[in-house]
Amino acid sequence: MNHFLDIHTTDKAALRGMIDNARQMKEARAGQPKATPDQDHPLKNRMVALIFEKPSTRTRVSFDLGVRQMGGQTMVLSGKEMQLGHGETIADTARVLSRYVDLIMIRTFEEATLQEMAEYASVPVINGLTNRTHPCQIMADVLTYEEHRGPIAGRKVVWSGDGNNVCASLIHGAGQFGFDFTFTGPQTLDPEREALEFARAQGVQAVIERDPAKAVEGADLVVTDTWVSMHDPQSARERRHNQLRGYQVNEALMAHAKPDALFMHCLPAHRDDEVTSAVMDGPNSVIFDEAENRLHAQKAVMRWCLGL
Ligand code: CP
Ligand code: NVA
Repeated sequence: MNHFLDIHTTDKAALRGMIDNARQMKEARAGQPKATPDQDHPLKNRMVALIFEKPSTRTRVSFDLGVRQMGGQTMVLSGKEMQLGHGETIADTARVLSRYVDLIMIRTFEEATLQEMAEYASVPVINGLTNRTHPCQIMADVLTYEEHRGPIAGRKVVWSGDGNNVCASLIHGAGQFGFDFTFTGPQTLDPEREALEFARAQGVQAVIERDPAKAVEGADLVVTDTWVSMHDPQSARERRHNQLRGYQVNEALMAHAKPDALFMHCLPAHRDDEVTSAVMDGPNSVIFDEAENRLHAQKAVMRWCLGL
């Protein structure tokens, strides 16, 4: 069964196939990303459960819309309103849901919850973000980069800020899609070593450079994310802001990158914290294309999961 749990645990050729399929489906809509159904309906008579244990705008709307465009139906479920976390095990929830729906997407806290759901579900499970990774975001980001600049393989991608869940999936993406990766940020917020080692084992560079200006030199793409993620304690906010201030993506930092370097952010952004409005709204920012491409990329992910 094709679960989509992480970039590094999904076959390289399958990932490439999903990006290509996403692009084809997007092109077939001829610049009309919104609600009208696709010409074919691969998800006809299919029901998809979308479970959220954390807030979401993009993941929620883009999955829901994507299923409907492909002719399927959705149930959007909030973790709080389910028996999840009220004593029923994840394994039992997975078995029960598998009797009702054809596909499960879950956004949760612990990676173990996702893993248990996948282990016990008899239908495919998609990772819609955990504390540790956010693979759907990176599928959209690769699609976005390639639409604007051609193949991402061999390019230099720099992450400035917190080495968080989105960063981990981007590093996995470096290994699977063949781009070089540089992290710049404070040591206390380094990305996990296993992710860097995974990328290196695939033959790409995955390095840490503490000086943000040096890190960004020659970059084709600069990426950042919020300094405080949904799973981080709010009490850490001030300390993190102090640690990360020097890693803000602003015009001065972007000036060290290649002149045509793109800027990405998964959103939601905190304007003038991790990135200035000048960069977010600047000519090299593709943040809203990224958001739209969640829709197209996830449609391809869902088709792959269901073998359709
Ligand atoms: N980028 C992203 O996953 O956004 P949401 O939290 O709004 O889903
Ligand atoms: N790192 C962020 C990503 C949100 C899409 C978080 O986990 O809150």
